[in-house]
Amino acid sequence: MMDTLITSRYRRRWCLLPVIAITVIVLLASCYYDNEEALYPSYNTLCDTTNVTFSSTIAPMLSSNCLSCHSNSSAASLGNNIRLEDYADVQIRATAIAGSIKHTGTYSPMPKNGGKLMDCSIIQFDIWVKKGMPDN
Ligand code: HEC
Repeated sequence: MMDTLITSRYRRRWCLLPVIAITVIVLLASCYYDNEEALYPSYNTLCDTTNVTFSSTIAPMLSSNCLSCHSNSSAASLGNNIRLEDYADVQIRATAIAGSIKHTGTYSPMPKNGGKLMDCSIIQFDIWVKKGMPDN
């Protein structure tokens, strides 16, 4: 009598296991999907790594993140005389810019006193350098 009672209790517990397992898997799967969508919307859908040009990609990125201190007029007072407004100035400093925006090596992390740039912008800068820094 005692034996059968114990056995049937065990059976009932084991029966629940697949149900619990499936519930956990479904919950995890839906969480993972939501997070990916929420965390990387621009990188997955909007990061253009094929049409990278100086005028449409690099100059606008510098303009919105760097020229407050590194424009031709602001550089002397705020940007340590480092100008990043004209193509020639950007090309000459490409290695330092890459180091600064990646926050690696011995270069000062940039933008100064600001958050790191989006991964997309950093990747696009590397692509432009690898293409030979065209003035396009
Ligand atoms: C708030 C002002 C400010 C902003 C915004 C800013 N910089 Fe700077 N930057 C400076 C100053 C000041 C220096 C001089 C070094 C230092 O004080 O860190 C500097 C230095 C640099 C250097 C030389 C670093 C070295 O170690 O040789 C580079 C390259 C540079 N900035 C690129 C950028 C880029 C690219 C951006 C935008 C992504 C940017 N900066 C945004 C103020 C700024």
